[in-house]
Amino acid sequence: MLKWTKNEVVYQLYPQSFYDTNGDGIGDIEGITTKLDYLKSLGVGAIWICPMYDSPNRDNGYDVRNYDKLQICYGTDEQFDEMVAEAHKRNIKIIMDLVLNHTSNENPWFLQSSSSRTNDKADWYIWRDGKPDGTPPTNWGAIFGGSAWTYCQQRNQYYLHTFSPYQPDLNWQCDELKNALFAMVNRWIDRGVDGFRLDAINFIAKDLSPIVDGEINVGEYADIYPFVANKPDAHKYLAELKAATFARGCLTVGEASSATVSDALLFANELDMIFQFEHVAMDIAEDWNVKPVDIVKLKKSFAKWQNGLFGRAWNALFWENHDQPRIVTRMGDENELRESSAKMLATCMYFMQGTPFIYQGQELGMINTRFYSKNEIRDIEVRNAWTKYVDGGLLSEKEFLKRISRRSRDTARTPMCWSDGKNAGFTDGTPWIKINDKYKQINVAEQSSRSDSVLNYYKALFALRAKLSVVVDGAFKLIDEQNAHVIAYERKNVEQTIAVVCNMTAQRLSFIDERLQRGKILLTNIENNYLADGILAPYQSIVIDLES
Ligand code: NOJ
Ligand code: CA
Repeated sequence: MLKWTKNEVVYQLYPQSFYDTNGDGIGDIEGITTKLDYLKSLGVGAIWICPMYDSPNRDNGYDVRNYDKLQICYGTDEQFDEMVAEAHKRNIKIIMDLVLNHTSNENPWFLQSSSSRTNDKADWYIWRDGKPDGTPPTNWGAIFGGSAWTYCQQRNQYYLHTFSPYQPDLNWQCDELKNALFAMVNRWIDRGVDGFRLDAINFIAKDLSPIVDGEINVGEYADIYPFVANKPDAHKYLAELKAATFARGCLTVGEASSATVSDALLFANELDMIFQFEHVAMDIAEDWNVKPVDIVKLKKSFAKWQNGLFGRAWNALFWENHDQPRIVTRMGDENELRESSAKMLATCMYFMQGTPFIYQGQELGMINTRFYSKNEIRDIEVRNAWTKYVDGGLLSEKEFLKRISRRSRDTARTPMCWSDGKNAGFTDGTPWIKINDKYKQINVAEQSSRSDSVLNYYKALFALRAKLSVVVDGAFKLIDEQNAHVIAYERKNVEQTIAVVCNMTAQRLSFIDERLQRGKILLTNIENNYLADGILAPYQSIVIDLES
């Protein structure tokens, strides 16, 4: 196991869309091994790989059928071990995705649990009787749509699923289940894995006694979050999990949607860091719509998390992942200013305190893939929404496709664009999901050969970051907090003070600050005279050393 440090960068890859080596149209383990040198050249210290376990793929691997078996299309055990060894040779850690809140409904554990009320695994999932009127135990809605309960004839009971019916929730109150999970995690550690990203980990404890209905504000179902998210027992279970497994020395990051700063401080007892989503939820509107981000609100959120965790916990810094649309589409410019905006957004995020996570393609300033018909869509969440909105007559097909091209998870799940060749150099076969239409302009080959590319900027940014101790341990303070166009902050430790200034708009702006203008530029995405005239170019970002 490799030891992790606080100044390294994690690269997230979506295995089915990273690189295909055998022409079946699906990325594979061999493809990851092949590209390790690319990742090394970026300055990456660890890779987080989305689930590669055996799965019916109802939710792209987040429905695990067998935790101990790799999905056949990804490759063999030998190829996996070779990938780990090759990564370690390059000092790159391997972080696996662990899905411990739920399994697939095809997992043998669930098949057994659902077969009767008396079998050995009867309590491994969450079973309840329906209401006397024949409806589910509660009115909670599942995150991917519909009721959170599904009826099972064999038991004449319902099982709980926070996500889809294909993802029944595990019962962490059951000791045998917990022990089975712990043993499985240890087997992966024994195989050389260095850490884990824990999927939906803040959902593992639920409010079930007494079990009550929620309040319905809109639609048919009540919000499930108050009953299943960030419950105190989650910490009890995680402490047990840690003692039995991660305490051996793993890097851990938990996914904790809707977690508050106080939740994060509690999770810090059990995990190295969590992903919280406040900053990437600000453009989300009802009915798959988007709205503009309020910059003042965004920077206040940054400050809240930076200061709230300072000295007590550790942030995970990210803009993108496989559940998020591309950040350039959300907050930058997709056209002439694409590269400046991509570089600015990177600067804005990655000089804060925490571990930087980047998602494949982000280092190219990739933009959302667009979808023009139903058969291009793969995501279960969107397919369910199609039934509700299009089949249900709420939105036209055209309008729905427009909205999901802005907001759906598939927008960033399409293959990595390696070159301007066939299928963006991702596969010789037929890709499992469409290729981003922009691959001829935005790809690794083109950006590697050009010194001012987004890719080379990311490399420079990570190299600079690695040299500055202030980025690791400096205190955080916003500059000009009420400014609605610029995000600026300083970081300060005993050695140094740096300032980061980001023009979040497509306009030229004046940002006069003598203290900044007396400093020395460490990094900028646009060469100009900011120090002399205080003028920021559209989407300009500058990192300034204030003490030299
Ligand atoms: C969060 C994962 O990132 C997402 O892709 C998945 O659908 C849900 N958890 C359920 O596992
Ligand atoms: Ca393949």
